[in-house]
Amino acid sequence: MIKAAVVGASGYIGGELVRLLAMHPEVEISAVTSRRYSGKKIHKVHPHLRGLNLRFTDSYSFDADVVFLAVPHGTSMRIIEDYMGSAKIIDLSADFRVSPSLYEEYYGGHLKPELIDEFVYGLPEIHREEIKKAELIANPGCNATAVILALYPFRGEVDEAIVDLKVSSSAGGRRENVASIHPERSHVVRVYKPFHHRHEAEIKQETGINAQFTVHSIDLVRGLLATIYFKMNTNEKELYKKYFPYLKEPFVRIVKEKGGMQRLPDPKYVIGSNFIDIGFTYDERNQRVILFSALDNLIKGGAGQAVQNMNIAFGLDETLGLSYLPVYPV
Ligand SMILES: NC(=O)c1ccc[n+]([C@@H]2O[C@H](COP(=O)([O-])OP(=O)(O)OC[C@H]3O[C@@H](n4cnc5c(N)ncnc54)[C@H](OP(=O)(O)O)[C@@H]3O)[C@@H](O)[C@H]2O)c1
Repeated sequence: MIKAAVVGASGYIGGELVRLLAMHPEVEISAVTSRRYSGKKIHKVHPHLRGLNLRFTDSYSFDADVVFLAVPHGTSMRIIEDYMGSAKIIDLSADFRVSPSLYEEYYGGHLKPELIDEFVYGLPEIHREEIKKAELIANPGCNATAVILALYPFRGEVDEAIVDLKVSSSAGGRRENVASIHPERSHVVRVYKPFHHRHEAEIKQETGINAQFTVHSIDLVRGLLATIYFKMNTNEKELYKKYFPYLKEPFVRIVKEKGGMQRLPDPKYVIGSNFIDIGFTYDERNQRVILFSALDNLIKGGAGQAVQNMNIAFGLDETLGLSYLPVYPV
């Protein structure tokens, strides 16, 4: 069995990691940390996990083969060296995803820029072979996963894309914040970040495409939809061919129906699963490609992708513990 520890287990990503790892046939959870809830049973914070015999600890030294860091960005870089060498590390923060120069441009100063190069960017559909040998894995951002996987087949052909993102409230984490309380968040379609979103850095690095995001907070608890626009002289048949390499991917589904209400991806139909749904259309009149990409930010956009990376890095079947279908209706 693989011994797994979750640092930051009281957060949304931490809770989702515990849920997935508790159902994984090859994993035994050896520690779940929280500074605020140390000593408390896990269901005091995550009521849906009632019945798991786990208590939070504020001891950050434990026996583990893999450590998941589910802490805010800026925190992983402070604590990472405590675990390096003794366990594989899967970091869910943004600290080690992009090169030092992109980090500086989008986030500011880094405490350990020399470590960034030691990390593999944990997007299995693109970096599977490197992940197999990796000790240090930087799990991608949720928005970045959606946009990179949709755009990756167009790298080298497109310089720029406009991205409209609609994101759920859980993407902002569990910390208290007036903008996220129910009266403020309910029924909202709020522009959260009109431009220069930090996840643009990951897209630039992985695809070479300058993707300009506008992020909107919408009235969903989980899930996100990316709508991506760029000019190209093509047709729908050619667009479909671009995605042929994904047909062998266990967690990528191409959604492109001729009729009906669900012709193109919608986060409603991936919630609770590790799937990413990608679709496309072509506006011939304007020679514009429009791509759509939907995922559950806490699963393929976070904890599920981290478990997928763990499976690959430990030589397990990539889908182990992840082959559940979405929950419906949600
Ligand atoms: N939410 C998403 O959809 C999503 C998707 C992909 C990636 N991510 C990334 O995953 C990470 C976790 O996100 P989240 O949404 O779960 O955030 P969250 O709900 O705010 O949880 C973060 C947890 O980290 C712990 N923590 C904070 N500072 C710490 C420190 N100095 N030392 C140890 N633990 C500390 C906190 O636990 P205690 O205060 O109880 O110790 C807290 O529960 C973030 O970097 C985020 O950007 C999030």
